[in-house]
Amino acid sequence: MARRYLMWFAHEHLDFRHSEMYSILSLLNLKIKFIEKPSIDKPYWIVELPSESCVKKIASRSVLLKNCIELWSRAKSETSLHENLKSAVKNISGEWIVPSTNDDASDIHICPSELIEACSRKDKSFKIDVETFCKHFTMKEKVDKIEHFSYLPLEGPVKLKNPDITLSYIEFYGVDPNNVPEQPCDLFFGRWVADGQRDLIQVHSLKKRQFIGNTSMDAQLSIIMANQAQVALGDVVLDPFVGSGSLLVAAAHFGGYVWGSDIDFMMLHARTRPTRVGQKVRHKEESIKGNMNQYGIQSRYLDVVVSDFSLPMWRDDLKFDAILTDPPYGVREPTEKIGIERDNYSLLEEHLDNHIPSKVEYGLPHIYSDLLNFAAKHLRIGRRLVCWYPLVRDEYREDHLPSHPCLELVGNSQQVLSKLTARRLLTYQKISDEIPNMPHDPNAGAHNFRDKYFAVGEISRREKKERRAEEIANSALYIKAKQEKSSNN
Ligand SMILES: C[S@@+](CC[C@H](N)C(=O)[O-])C[C@H]1O[C@@H](n2cnc3c(N)ncnc32)[C@H](O)[C@@H]1O
Repeated sequence: MARRYLMWFAHEHLDFRHSEMYSILSLLNLKIKFIEKPSIDKPYWIVELPSESCVKKIASRSVLLKNCIELWSRAKSETSLHENLKSAVKNISGEWIVPSTNDDASDIHICPSELIEACSRKDKSFKIDVETFCKHFTMKEKVDKIEHFSYLPLEGPVKLKNPDITLSYIEFYGVDPNNVPEQPCDLFFGRWVADGQRDLIQVHSLKKRQFIGNTSMDAQLSIIMANQAQVALGDVVLDPFVGSGSLLVAAAHFGGYVWGSDIDFMMLHARTRPTRVGQKVRHKEESIKGNMNQYGIQSRYLDVVVSDFSLPMWRDDLKFDAILTDPPYGVREPTEKIGIERDNYSLLEEHLDNHIPSKVEYGLPHIYSDLLNFAAKHLRIGRRLVCWYPLVRDEYREDHLPSHPCLELVGNSQQVLSKLTARRLLTYQKISDEIPNMPHDPNAGAHNFRDKYFAVGEISRREKKERRAEEIANSALYIKAKQEKSSNN
């Protein structure tokens, strides 16, 4: 039987909540019914879902979902909430309870007595948790609030660690810490059903990851990306700008078999200057594969290859189930491809062995045109490309986002980076197999982030100097690594 649930979300990355949840719902082929229109000002949704197992499946994926409870009562005042529960206790015969007194239009009195009855058995241990949002209460005050529920016919023993049943009482005081009301504006009571995947943020934290680079993607955003790409067990996933492989970790966690490629030999071999403050040299174990071992997902690691994305490397008929990527923005790493400005240039035979290919600018409009063309060709129909897109906030226009006739934009969430800049997480779904290789979209240039970023002076002279020093240090390391490699051979 469909039941009502309260889904409680983390109050961060608000713009991503809808996209992450809808990607998960469509991946699991589930329909959700809203009992109350969701609002970005509220960290919760009140919904109807077909069964508890559906709730658990959703929670097993979402990193923005904190937890989910089977909702027994929702009220605008404490009195109303308790009255509703008391009438359900009286009417233990199992009928839906008709709201009693004191009802606000938005009170939800849904507590069929059978829900309480199922929790009252003598052999079921239980505890009641109290959570308050935007207001702090002492332990003593929380215990007092728990005492108010003593009329519930809970016959089993109280057990604080791993009880059979956890009942949850939540008081919501709004989201403005500078304007906290005396009384809660919303109150909820119900049975805890499942936690979301917030723990993964710690487990996959970059702080504890063996190998990271300057632009490694944080754990939470990587998981959101894997969810929006709907990565599932057995999928073949590619990150063509793989860097230190953070997105591969998230994709492999959900069962994807992962490939990566990157133009930067040094990054792929974990030989760039160490990113961690105080670390002088890279450790031997640092590598993308080492990260996979760290999380026990090495069996899902296919490989990474050094390759310039502007030069097609994959067989034409090869298909991926998902492409997740964070292309270079030209700020913390250069946007370059292999090439030479001079015409009719050819390399002398004697220089072949030690040749370091020269590079030319690979502007963002070209990168995104190549990326969308690549996705249109190499994604399976119905599958997704999820990528970041940087821009200057004031100049954002949805109709200037990269586009392709074979790809439908199904998600577009903003992460603010600074007063002036932001990046958008774009999710495209492949809708057609008629693959016109689109020329570079002239509109895509409208958001030429790099030029505008530097033009608005977002980078300081000190940062420029530091970056230059890093480039010089990296080329010295590169030559050393190449020499080591050829002497090993
Ligand atoms: C923003 S970083 C990706 C970071 C990565 N998501 C991670 O977690 O470490 C962009 C990457 O694109 C790579 N890159 C730049 N130009 C490229 C090109 N033409 N072909 C392939 N990779 C390129 C850079 O070397 C860099 O590692």
